[in-house]
Amino acid sequence: MQVGIIGLGYVGIPLARRISQCGQGVTGFDIDAERVSGLNGGRSPIKHIADAEIGTMLGDGFEATCDFSRTAECDALIICVPTPLGKTREPDLSYVVSTMESLAPHLRAGQLLSLESTTWPGTTEEVLRPYVERAGLTPGVDFHLVYSPEREDPGNPDFDTRTIPKVVGGSTAACLDAGVRLYGLFIDRIVPVSSTRTAEMVKLLENIHRSVNIGLVNELKSVTDRMGLDIFEIIDAAKSKPFGFTAYYPGPGIGGHCIPIDPFYLTWKAREFGVHTRFIELAGEVNAAMPRYVVDKLITALNDRSKALRGSKILALGIAYKRDVDDTRESPSVFVMELLRDWGAEVHYSDPNVAVFPRMREHSFDLASVEVTASSLASYDAVLLLTDHSAFDYGMIAEHASLIVDTRGAFRDMPANGKVVRA
Ligand SMILES: NC(=O)c1ccc[n+]([C@@H]2O[C@H](COP(=O)([O-])OP(=O)(O)OC[C@H]3O[C@@H](n4cnc5c(N)ncnc54)[C@H](O)[C@@H]3O)[C@@H](O)[C@H]2O)c1
Repeated sequence: MQVGIIGLGYVGIPLARRISQCGQGVTGFDIDAERVSGLNGGRSPIKHIADAEIGTMLGDGFEATCDFSRTAECDALIICVPTPLGKTREPDLSYVVSTMESLAPHLRAGQLLSLESTTWPGTTEEVLRPYVERAGLTPGVDFHLVYSPEREDPGNPDFDTRTIPKVVGGSTAACLDAGVRLYGLFIDRIVPVSSTRTAEMVKLLENIHRSVNIGLVNELKSVTDRMGLDIFEIIDAAKSKPFGFTAYYPGPGIGGHCIPIDPFYLTWKAREFGVHTRFIELAGEVNAAMPRYVVDKLITALNDRSKALRGSKILALGIAYKRDVDDTRESPSVFVMELLRDWGAEVHYSDPNVAVFPRMREHSFDLASVEVTASSLASYDAVLLLTDHSAFDYGMIAEHASLIVDTRGAFRDMPANGKVVRA
């Protein structure tokens, strides 16, 4: 069997690697010619996938290409392209639509098409299916159409593509059957659901659940802080309850491609049905206010030292959106850095996984990662811990930084000497 993966990013590459490991042929399709030639030259664009692993895939027959006519050679096509929000926070399906435009002339009988990009319930039926039908094909008769949400968790050592159960919904019963058989070739456990819409909604439920619960602990953090209580101690103790409680941790906001974005796909679609998704909006509001909360804490702490934020030298620790990854998309650390710059601070950052501040659509800093040493720490008016990293030496930071604003609870065991501020 030959499987085509469309979109060779954080989702597409691990999936291509897994399919290749199972002895199936894999062709990768992308519009980014640089990425395609890099992959064909054995270079991985993702930190947690080593170049050597791309080398192994190439040895097993993997090839990347920008030539979409070659999708006709594939028995199954899996779409893993971005689904961001537009400027007014409405779903931007342009990548999915342009993928379908590229695929449409080459679709043929006998193929299976699966969408994995996160999206609103109805996308597979309302956006993809018309392309299939216009190509003269009928899902469930001579073509198979499914939706199967991606659940990749970059940097998580406990689960990989093979062991994360895969939800699949089909356009018809025959489509579902074909989808279950396809994914069953390279994933341990398949969870079939009754429709593509249900599968699309499953993914949104998972991400809304996270967004709302993170919003809740972020709100509780501001309350416990006023009460002089430590939210991390409270969560850790609550976690001892063996049932009915799931731990979520506060932070400087939410980041990554999924949690800050996907819930609003449902908000948008729900309006068509006359429903307002108030929990989603509220969680979004609370989480989006967190960077400002962190900066306010810093301003107060500097004020206590008779210092202004304007002109202060601040080091932001961790700019990826979560621990030990290199992905800075929607990272709250970047929003904090922008606020600091707006207030006139001289802001630098340190992130072992992000050597140079990346090219981003809406943010720009001409900065390279600062090495965290005793002397570099001593040169800053304050250090902000925004994202944990396993390489950070918290003991050394505690010893040499003059002021630490801690959003992750990493310094909670330090003696209360006025140096550490919880934020
Ligand atoms: N990153 C994650 O952890 C994660 C987890 C679960 C779900 N998802 C979902 O998976 C989807 C993909 O996310 P990602 O993080 O892999 O994105 P990504 O930006 O890492 O990769 C997307 C790739 O698609 C390519 N692309 C864009 N338009 C294309 C087109 N028309 N044809 C072919 N290739 C095209 C881009 O060049 C890029 O290489 C999104 O819907 C996201 O919400 C991501």
